[in-house]
Amino acid sequence: MPGATQPRRFCRSGPLHGRILVPGDKSISHRAIMLASLAVGTSTITGLLESADVTATAAAMRATGASIEQVKPGVWRIDGVGVGSLLQPAAALDMGNSGTSTRLLMGLFASHGIQTVFTGDASLSRRPMGRVIQPLALMGAQFTVNADDTLPLTMRGADPAVPIHYRLQVASAQVKSAILLAALNTAGSTIVVEPTPTRDHTERMLRGFGANLSIDIGDDGARIITMQGPQDLHPCDIEVPGDPSSAAFFVVAALLVPGSDLTIANVGMNPTRAALLDVLRAMGGSIEEEDHRVIGGEPVADLRVRHSELKGIEIDPASTAAMIDEFPILFVAAALASGRTVTQGLEELRVKESDRLAVMSAALTFAGASVEEHADGLTIEGTGGAMLRGTLPGQSIATMLDHRIAMSMAIAGLVSEAGVTVDDMRPVATSFPQFERLLGDVQCR
Ligand code: S3P
Repeated sequence: MPGATQPRRFCRSGPLHGRILVPGDKSISHRAIMLASLAVGTSTITGLLESADVTATAAAMRATGASIEQVKPGVWRIDGVGVGSLLQPAAALDMGNSGTSTRLLMGLFASHGIQTVFTGDASLSRRPMGRVIQPLALMGAQFTVNADDTLPLTMRGADPAVPIHYRLQVASAQVKSAILLAALNTAGSTIVVEPTPTRDHTERMLRGFGANLSIDIGDDGARIITMQGPQDLHPCDIEVPGDPSSAAFFVVAALLVPGSDLTIANVGMNPTRAALLDVLRAMGGSIEEEDHRVIGGEPVADLRVRHSELKGIEIDPASTAAMIDEFPILFVAAALASGRTVTQGLEELRVKESDRLAVMSAALTFAGASVEEHADGLTIEGTGGAMLRGTLPGQSIATMLDHRIAMSMAIAGLVSEAGVTVDDMRPVATSFPQFERLLGDVQCR
């Protein structure tokens, strides 16, 4: 991470007002760069998230032959090389903090006869890669990796790759997407069976770029995705909707800060991402959806959020996949609700950018909340709307290189007596570089 640490204190806030736009969806931005880089011809992407994670994907696609340039802020032109024509990169690919870049690109490169070296920061180098190595090895890719299946690793892509019929063992859009991207350059029928639906941006966007894939529902309710490869992609102009995972911080902030009435415009409403809104409404949150429309093949709406008295609930583990990145900020909402919030089935949170159960439990406890950590979730006893105590003088929240911990605890600071000090805001640049500026904007109106 460049430069010195950036500690910040977030203090008790007056009402949040106005209308803001959050930046482009991170998941969709990664996929748009990858697919445009594989199409023959020029694609234009509007509303691309310009953040460190997405830059890592763009750098990897440039290193394998695509031409990628910014036309103006948020608008990018990409000239792709064609499926099957990726070039051998000259150096190791630095994935920084980005698990999505790493796992999806491993899939994409696994069916091309090139050798790639993936490296990452301290957080990414602890995250499990076995979940993608296993299916990609079945397709014929070869790996040199340590016993933990973590970065750094070297992959030699298979040429030709063999199609597989694979049932996902973890509910993971990244694993599903890695296999589907590998299938693009694999002759025959690749089938991914997904017992729990996860975000479907890859499937939607593959169709947008002209790929042919079928999606069926099995007798047990699983989604069965079949792609007949190889497939050519044609260029496509894509508009990226606002990221619901970034919007989530402002949604919860407006619910918690008394007197707030905030509109967050152009937010992606894909049902595989939208469970946080249902959970917050079930807790009593006032969130209205306005002006539903479709942008870039994805449903989008404006969200009007007003301060609400929240009550704790038991969260159905069936909602987990559709709000997997939103638990840190949900825990903040629960800490201010009346009564108890219980979550379970969240083992996956332990292998995100940090162990989000342990780190959020410690962070909220530090700020004065009442939290119990279990193997697979947190139980939180809320304050009933009373402000949190905040962090003590000289203490700060340890973000552990995790952007969502930093932003969640910044929002906790807005509803604390003494304020909350976050040890380092630099990780926020991986997904939401405008976070602090937007927070200042909605506090000043
Ligand atoms: C993502 C999928 C999710 C999510 C991550 C982005 C994606 O990870 O946590 O932030 O873009 O496919 P998993 O697939 O590991 O659950």
